[in-house]
Amino acid sequence: MRHIFQQGTDVTAPVLVLLHGTGGTERDLLPLAQAISPASSVLSIRGNVLENGMPRFFRRLAEGIFDEEDLIFRTKELNDFLDEAAVEHGFDRRNVVAIGYSNGANIAGSLLFHYPDALRGAILHHPMVPRRGIQLPDLTDTPIFIGAGRNDPICSPEETEELQKLLGEAGAEIEVHWENAGHQLTRSEVDAAGTWFKANL
Ligand code: MLT
Repeated sequence: MRHIFQQGTDVTAPVLVLLHGTGGTERDLLPLAQAISPASSVLSIRGNVLENGMPRFFRRLAEGIFDEEDLIFRTKELNDFLDEAAVEHGFDRRNVVAIGYSNGANIAGSLLFHYPDALRGAILHHPMVPRRGIQLPDLTDTPIFIGAGRNDPICSPEETEELQKLLGEAGAEIEVHWENAGHQLTRSEVDAAGTWFKANL
């Protein structure tokens, strides 16, 4: 997958995997890594799917309606890519924390829903429920930050609460941070994610 790898100054710090929103690129979230853990190595990935020229991590049938078959395929593709990138760039595969926004948060959520050891933790900015009706892996000791907007027209507060419940039932330790905003990623949400990261990882 097309990506940027930046070696960090602290090899023991979690490796941050950055996953952009629809229409973004692997450059978009680099400032988030700087804000959250400047000493970490960073692997920032571009989604392999194009929707009218806009990169995404999996196909959708309509706004909020995911192509489940493609989501499953792309989730495996991303998990395999993380395995390969760890070997190629020489980082600890078990020390990977995802930071995703919107569509990137949704594929990060899908990694958590499908693979028990894909991520050590995750910061999910404005995620949705990636799939329903499946058994999640055991996510005990997996810290997850969810940033959500009370007026988000794409991820409703009810969907955020449903995601929190599903991940919580799988054993994850979840903090939900609410903004009085919509789908956009605000500075105060990033600051809250940074504070959470220092306390939990
Ligand atoms: C998705 O398709 O993943 C969500 O609707 C968020 C987005 O618009 O990217």
